[in-house]
Amino acid sequence: MLEVTKLRCEYLTNPLGLGEPHPRFSWVLQADSSNVMQKSYRVQVGANRGFVPLLWDTEAISSSSSIQVEYAGPALCSCSRYFWRVKIADTAGQESPWSDPSWFETAILDRSLWKARFISSDDDAGSSRGMRFRGEASVDGEIAWARLYATALGIYEISLNGANLGDAVLMPGWTAYEKRLLYQTFDVTELLRPGANVIGATVAPGWYKGDLAGWLGARNLYGTSTALFAQLIVRLKNGGELVVSTDAGWKVSEGPVLMAELYHGESYDARLEEPGWDAPGFDDSPWRRVAVLDRGWDTLAAQDGPPVRRQETLSVKTLTTTPKGERVLDFGQNLAGWVRFTVRGNAGDRVVLRHAEILDAEGNFYTANLRGAKARIEYTLRGGAEEVFEPHFTSMGFRYVCIDEYPGTPRPENFSAVVVSSDMGSTGSFECSHPLLNALHRNIDWSLKGNFIDVPTDCPQRDERLGWTGDAQVFVRTASFHRDIASFMTKWLRDLAADQRPDGGVPFVIPDVLSKVPNNDPHTAQSHSSSGWGDAAVICPWTLYEVYGDRRILERQYESMKGWVEYVRGRAQDGLLWNTGYHFGDWVALDAKEGSYFGATPNDLIATAFYAYSSELLARTAAALSRATDADKYRRLHEEIVRAFRAEFFTLTGRLASRTQTAHILALSFGLVPPEHRGRCVETLVELLKENGGHLTTGFIGTPYFCRALSDNGRLDEAYTLLLKEDYPSWLYQITRGATTIWEHWDGIKPDGSLWSVNMNSFNHYAYGSVGDWLYRVVGGLDAEEPGYKKIRFEPRPGGGLTWARVKYTTPYGPASLEWRLEGGDLRIEALVPHNTTARLILPHDGSVVALGSGFHTFRHPYAKG
Ligand code: BGC
Repeated sequence: MLEVTKLRCEYLTNPLGLGEPHPRFSWVLQADSSNVMQKSYRVQVGANRGFVPLLWDTEAISSSSSIQVEYAGPALCSCSRYFWRVKIADTAGQESPWSDPSWFETAILDRSLWKARFISSDDDAGSSRGMRFRGEASVDGEIAWARLYATALGIYEISLNGANLGDAVLMPGWTAYEKRLLYQTFDVTELLRPGANVIGATVAPGWYKGDLAGWLGARNLYGTSTALFAQLIVRLKNGGELVVSTDAGWKVSEGPVLMAELYHGESYDARLEEPGWDAPGFDDSPWRRVAVLDRGWDTLAAQDGPPVRRQETLSVKTLTTTPKGERVLDFGQNLAGWVRFTVRGNAGDRVVLRHAEILDAEGNFYTANLRGAKARIEYTLRGGAEEVFEPHFTSMGFRYVCIDEYPGTPRPENFSAVVVSSDMGSTGSFECSHPLLNALHRNIDWSLKGNFIDVPTDCPQRDERLGWTGDAQVFVRTASFHRDIASFMTKWLRDLAADQRPDGGVPFVIPDVLSKVPNNDPHTAQSHSSSGWGDAAVICPWTLYEVYGDRRILERQYESMKGWVEYVRGRAQDGLLWNTGYHFGDWVALDAKEGSYFGATPNDLIATAFYAYSSELLARTAAALSRATDADKYRRLHEEIVRAFRAEFFTLTGRLASRTQTAHILALSFGLVPPEHRGRCVETLVELLKENGGHLTTGFIGTPYFCRALSDNGRLDEAYTLLLKEDYPSWLYQITRGATTIWEHWDGIKPDGSLWSVNMNSFNHYAYGSVGDWLYRVVGGLDAEEPGYKKIRFEPRPGGGLTWARVKYTTPYGPASLEWRLEGGDLRIEALVPHNTTARLILPHDGSVVALGSGFHTFRHPYAKG
């Protein structure tokens, strides 16, 4: 048996509303034999399931490519569905049948099709109200096909004849709005009817005009008025076509959403609801005419990342009264999203909820770390029957909810927490014999969910929640093990390139809002180009290439990657030592001076180390793209930077100028140590650990590479000891303190129960979760040896007293897994290799290498160590 399954187009199954004119196809081989490799493929694309007429036929192509095969047929039309199928032959001569057909549907590829205008209320400037828009669509004839293309300035929900469209929330997400505003596609064929129809939408401030970078008091960063944009295209059975668009004929009115702000929550008065407002037959004569904005179509782009969706709901673990007398719900999990509740009461009664991540040492509700974010829900009842409410235009980071007002007696079953995240499929799992490591893995996953909300953010709770480039960069590889982040990160990198400065400088946050807020804050006055942060421009695309084998991301980000390296070159002494500019350094490291955020490792050392690393990755990128001149140029630049680094920071006898853990970690990880001094550098790192009682002192920059710097240099035991520390400061310390997500600070809650400064103390910050990479690649032992896992490297490294570990990971070619287990003096290994890939297994007992073909393999060897 040989079959082709899991057909995906641009990482999606049957995507609706694709803006890509050259979509790429991927598939997975299914077979009941082992050692299966694809020898050839054939792809057909047709206008219908029967593939007649055929639009594109590759015929049999001799190739082992089964991912990202690019469509190269006739130009695709807008608003059209295409069907595709694949058949393959393997190297053993087996042929598969045609796969089941899959489809993709294009969005509006041709800008001249746009008719709609951005419509707004002329008097909502500065307000936080949700505005409702209403437009009528009269259809004369039987409907064959209907699509609504919509977006908003603000965040919106849209309905047709009273039925909400789609299940995404917080649309259209957050992008560099001045350059890229994403629109969504809805299939409304079934909802639209001959005769009168009504499109209704509510638009709230969101990222567009709501409070953003709250600690700087910023709002209205993209504009002062929310607006709606929608275009309905209907094809009639009689061959006619109808287009209905937002225009001057639409109506607008305030509604029950009195206030909606991402940081502050939502205030909703159900008494102001007007039943039937978004369906035909409603009298909208009291509503006002809309204002038409002067905004064109050139920024419109089809949705290119995964939508944000509700992921799951959690029920209340406990409802208790705190020492101060507050009624507090505990959901048992720090998360991002909101609360859904039921309530019964009189018109005008209120439910008021506030959200928090932790309780203080006395067990009282604690919100000081939210800074300016109010995270408050205020609901006014319409009265009578049971009412159900959940907010729609905000989100909060919380585990605890304080019930300030609620008519009658609240019961746990009246509340549930709705978890919200970008909807990326889960790709990996990690389990081992150490329960706290499993908890660490789980906490990393929760921090990912809470912070991958359309943009990779630093935190989901305080008045910040920005796409900090450094955080994303240190976490991207770990994230790739947990979720399918390909489209999510591709979208964000497009915004990075869009917001990159003409001189190549990279904003601290993407989308870049900080440059819009002139400020004197010492950390953000400059707004762009810190080392370790700006390097996201290079490290993130390269990581996506390694993980997904995605060359296109390198092609499309190439100018951005190069722009960043050239930016640094222009500011480095002799083009080699980067010793100018503002840097976050080893952010919040514990070797910082009391009260400072900046770790002890010198900026010029960190900056030059990252410059070396990024120039090396750029050289490898140029080589992968066959840009030989650049490959050579950046390889030489890299060598010169390494030489300059050595001359500046290493003495002749191999002492590193800065005696910090992070300095040694970076030098080892980025290949900056003179080979003859490697031993000394490793020794010093181990000494630095010992001097600190075996604990780390590292911040955002050193921590991600710490375990790896040890395990790659013959110090596996020390790496495990560091990872498994349970006392402060350590990864597991916070778990012993009840953490359910990763903290921003090692000392977020100190051993004596006191808290780190209220100014910046998030309990859901994934940066230190970047150690997850080491769990998968070293403890579990699963890694990509060739881009996209076309060749897998299995290298389990038992240690730390662990008796077993199991990693599973869905590669682009299908599921892979590795499990090792110490059993009666033996080491037992089970490995699963996906079809159309090969693997190398490096056996830990003697370092010998076994070549593996696809299929399931088991090994057993005597093993003394563990
Ligand atoms: C954010 C960080 C970010 C940093 C820049 C903080 O406010 O929360 O995660 O990377 O600023 O140093």
